[in-house]
Amino acid sequence: GLPAEVTIWEVGARDGLQNEKETVPLEVKLEFLRRMADAGLAVLEATSFVHPKWVPQLADAAELIDGLDQASGVRYPVLVPNQRGLDRALDAKVRDIAIFAAASETFAQRNLNSGLDEQFAMFEPVVGRAVGEGIAVRGYLSMCFGDPWEGPVPVEQVVATGKRLLEMGCHQLSLGDTIGVATPGHVEALLRAFVAAGVGVDEIAVHFHDTYGQALANTATALRHGVSTVDSSAGGLGGCPYAKSATGNLATEDLIWMLDGLGIQHGVDLGKLVDTSVWMAEQLGRPSPSRVVKALSS
Ligand code: HMG
Ligand code: MG
Repeated sequence: GLPAEVTIWEVGARDGLQNEKETVPLEVKLEFLRRMADAGLAVLEATSFVHPKWVPQLADAAELIDGLDQASGVRYPVLVPNQRGLDRALDAKVRDIAIFAAASETFAQRNLNSGLDEQFAMFEPVVGRAVGEGIAVRGYLSMCFGDPWEGPVPVEQVVATGKRLLEMGCHQLSLGDTIGVATPGHVEALLRAFVAAGVGVDEIAVHFHDTYGQALANTATALRHGVSTVDSSAGGLGGCPYAKSATGNLATEDLIWMLDGLGIQHGVDLGKLVDTSVWMAEQLGRPSPSRVVKALSS
């Protein structure tokens, strides 16, 4: 059945901004995060400690973490791919990280300069060290439904790869539809396969991109299967620089509109968040693709 409460894992500042053509100034990023915290979002994925040549938009990761109001009780997880990234994150006093694995061989190559099996050798010491320091580690798994180079990704391959992340010590597995090709039947099949393989829905989060307009339908399906952590980005910002045809994430405002309709608690002030996305759209010079932002701001 449906959960009574959903944790929104807001990825706008990371997934949303990693793909911007023009680098967003640090002050704008910090203001964006402050406004989202003020709107009531309790988990704000802030940035990535990846190679600055690979993702120049997030090269200011250390300065950004330094500028956050850490006392506010909000969680600010960051992406970390390898030991060098973890060193940088620990230097910045980060206490919450996410590693990001690929469910397909080609994406492991393109996004991590690694391989489907090889990537685990990169992540294992990161997770081991982080967990040893009492740091929570989320495991992302990308291309869980389809891959732009390989086509549909087999459910068994996704489940096997995802289970390895949990067994390695990740507290949560976020199933990524990086290019937005999932549909509700596929979501249901994948969730059933994970449960059949012994993974609890409480360990699973969903991360849908909205390329084909299916993100909200897919999320509704996941909620009906008991998933209670949903990734989304304010205003529907986003995309992955290493996956062609990836567009923005499910918009947080669209998610909230649906949660309100279903009577599911989320703790966010929709009006404040819409104002934030309108403000951010002005900073970026283009309107938000979110239908709810459009409807509530016109
Ligand atoms: P590589 O070039 O293979 O790295 O990149 P390397 O280990 O061979 O090291 C080469 C040099 O880079 C070395 O420096 C390292 O120190 C340095 P040198 O000795 O030559 O002077 N280096 C670093 N510097 C700073 N920070 C680091 C770092 N690592 C190495 N962390 C690497 C491998 C993984 C680093 C690279 O491929 C990378 O940064 N990839 C990140 C790609 C990325 O951020 N993609 C977007 C996020 S994933 C996503 O969006 C999907 C998601 O939203 C879910 C979904 O939608 O499905 C999460
Ligand atoms: Mg993503």
